[in-house]
Amino acid sequence: MKQQNTLELNKTGNERFSSAGFILSAIGSSVGLGNMWKFPYITGLYGGAAFFLLFIIFLVLCGLPILLAELTIGRGGRGNAASSFEVLSGKKSWAFFGFLSVLAAFIIMAFYTVVAGWTLHYAVQSFTGSLFENKDYAAQFTDFNAGFLPVVWQVVVMILSVWVVARGISGGIEKFNKVLIPGLVVLLIMLMIRALTLPGGGAGVEFFLSPDFSKLTFESALVALGHAFFSLSLGMGIMITYGAYVNREQSLGTASMAVGFGDLIYALIAGLIIFPTSFAFGIPSSSGPGLVFIALPAAFEAMPFGHFFGGLFFILLAVAALTSAVSILEVPVAYVMNKMKWSRAKSAIALGILLLIVGIPAAMSVTGPLSTFLPGGKSLFDWMDFLGSYVLVPIGGLVVTLFTGFAWKRAGEEAGLTSNWYKLWMFLLRWVAPIMMVAVFIYSVYTNLG
Ligand code: PFF
Repeated sequence: MKQQNTLELNKTGNERFSSAGFILSAIGSSVGLGNMWKFPYITGLYGGAAFFLLFIIFLVLCGLPILLAELTIGRGGRGNAASSFEVLSGKKSWAFFGFLSVLAAFIIMAFYTVVAGWTLHYAVQSFTGSLFENKDYAAQFTDFNAGFLPVVWQVVVMILSVWVVARGISGGIEKFNKVLIPGLVVLLIMLMIRALTLPGGGAGVEFFLSPDFSKLTFESALVALGHAFFSLSLGMGIMITYGAYVNREQSLGTASMAVGFGDLIYALIAGLIIFPTSFAFGIPSSSGPGLVFIALPAAFEAMPFGHFFGGLFFILLAVAALTSAVSILEVPVAYVMNKMKWSRAKSAIALGILLLIVGIPAAMSVTGPLSTFLPGGKSLFDWMDFLGSYVLVPIGGLVVTLFTGFAWKRAGEEAGLTSNWYKLWMFLLRWVAPIMMVAVFIYSVYTNLG
């Protein structure tokens, strides 16, 4: 019965990752703009090393248990981010809660492609040198966003993502990550060496790695927690969807550790690139969201071979963004394939078009023609970020913890943990993670709407 049910609910049923392909793809998903664009600026704003330490603690205590839970639900249910819940519980109501993550994925993809597009534009501008002709980088950022180019780059990102996803799991997503992730590692190392050898960069390393606990506040803890969660790509159905393509033989516990570790190392190296660079050139590390696009170009302008390293840096960002974008697009694609009984290619193309219809207005709302349209005081871009990342993602995380901790009795069998690990996992999922998710949710809704 369960078998039949699974097949009915799941059109993607026969596709599988290879073991290495799965781990690389999951790392590709988690390593994204979150690590390179957001992590450094929030670390700068919320106190440097002490904040980084909190991030690590939350990654382990809250991120890893939920990551394992998502993968377990996916492999157990072998469906999409909504249907897997239904297969496992036999209840339609759970599919509705799962659907909230599919919605989160859709909304996040709509605006994530905008930022991914910026990185491609900045890479081209840096290599050609035109980025450095006019030294007012804030004005450049504003002017670029006021024009039509962000939309063009967004369309490029969308076409690429649709193309990869349409080719399927092993022929598309897995292949793409197998090429790009090793490339990413090479770029990271080159940039880290460049940054660490800059005169005056040492103070940046110190800011990033020697903690000053007096700087920690309750607020910084909540931001660190929210980021640990976002950084592992949780609460948006990605790991549930990917889990459905994982072989029975794969240890999900080991996979979760590998992904968590990969994400952490990446964040560490990102910090070791950005902080020495910003300190060496006197850029305040608390510059906020504009750190990467507005403050750092000044550093690339001033350093030897800066055009080249600047170009590499933005390519790095673009690669990280693209491997995340394909993972998030796969969530609604798996859902639509199954709901509409459409082919993979048709679902990917249809969603790509729909996402552009929703996402192009977001691209035009930063400083472009729609920037004066501010319903409730927020631009369309900010609304999508808020709804996706701050409302639906914590709810998605909560649904996963409650489902695995309380509703689904056989999670332990599917996860294949030893009894002690299982007890620890359940304790964290039942009593620690849900409280944390609720705290993040209340905090982010409060600060964003307050
Ligand atoms: N872990 C990703 C990141 O840090 O950027 C989160 C993510 C965001 C994944 C958007 C996918 C995505 F499209």
